Amino acid sequence: MLIKSFRKSDLSEAKVTDESVFKNRRQLLRNLGFIGAGSLLASSSNAGVFDFLSDDQSNAEDTSGLKALDFKKASASNQKLTSEDKVTSYNNFYEFGLSKSDPKANSAKFVSDPWKVEIVGEVEKPITLDLDDLYKFGLEERIYRLRCVEAWSMVIPWVGYSLSKILEKAAPTSKAKYVAFETVYNPDQMPGQRSRFFGGGIKYPYVEGLRLDEAMNPLAFIAVGVYGKALPPQNGAPLRLLVPWKYGFKSIKSITRIRLTDQQPPTTWNISAPHEYGFYANVNPQVDHPRWSQASERRITTGGLGADERIPTEMFNGYAEEVAHLYANLDLKKFY
Ligand code: MTE
Repeated sequence: MLIKSFRKSDLSEAKVTDESVFKNRRQLLRNLGFIGAGSLLASSSNAGVFDFLSDDQSNAEDTSGLKALDFKKASASNQKLTSEDKVTSYNNFYEFGLSKSDPKANSAKFVSDPWKVEIVGEVEKPITLDLDDLYKFGLEERIYRLRCVEAWSMVIPWVGYSLSKILEKAAPTSKAKYVAFETVYNPDQMPGQRSRFFGGGIKYPYVEGLRLDEAMNPLAFIAVGVYGKALPPQNGAPLRLLVPWKYGFKSIKSITRIRLTDQQPPTTWNISAPHEYGFYANVNPQVDHPRWSQASERRITTGGLGADERIPTEMFNGYAEEVAHLYANLDLKKFY
């Protein structure tokens, strides 16, 4: 993976645009196209979750149907949000090119509607979900830190739900031990999949994986939106994974296939450079990348000159309380 060097002037005090849209849940409804979608709300088994999106303003901040406690634990609301402009213009999505500005520049024509994602393999009820289905799992807003293995990070308000919700729908069998994810393969629309020069020569489609117990942890999240709007292509439309305690490359974008298996699945960066990128990829300031330190990170805020700051990296990206138990018997130096 490429790493961007930074100047000393990039590391000073942070400043972030205040995002009023984040507080406006009705805007989310509008942007995701839910206003007037009476049939969708009525048919949703999670209709209560959408109540806060009704016309009754007294409900505006109601989080009924959400696991308020989990939400609080998961959030990083004491940290300044990275500005929306930066979240949607500084990206890693090699299917659209290698530099940070390429995904936005080259993905405008990417078609993410209609979409299908299948959940297959070691499940009792294999299912295929379309976009309407994907919006019916009860949306929550969660502020997560995203820590890239390249040692930069952001704080981002995503919209979606715990991955466990869609996995449970497919009813994993007792043989299921891992979950494998696959990005759509669409070389016509993804120049990086057509050309080694454009796509960095990694093997496509991009694939990722988690242990089943990691995948069922409430923090593992499927995002369908960001900053109160449907995901733009460069951030992984129409759905992507977020595993906030792991390096960002685990958070696979534009997912079309989820397969439960009894074997640890291959993962893109591990295939490309196994001594640099492991299957686990837990954020760990004590285990350096062979070519750079992981002890600290550049926190991207507005991205303006001198706006970003250098901060220490936290174990499991600050989510140790929620996930450390998953690795109680694992040597994290060996299983990096
Ligand atoms: N998913 C796919 N399919 N292709 C990619 O190149 N890059 C990963 C991850 N998911 C990537 C991907 C990496 S390295 C990071 S850091 C995050 O996406 C970046 O997500 P963002 O662009 O929304 O910040």
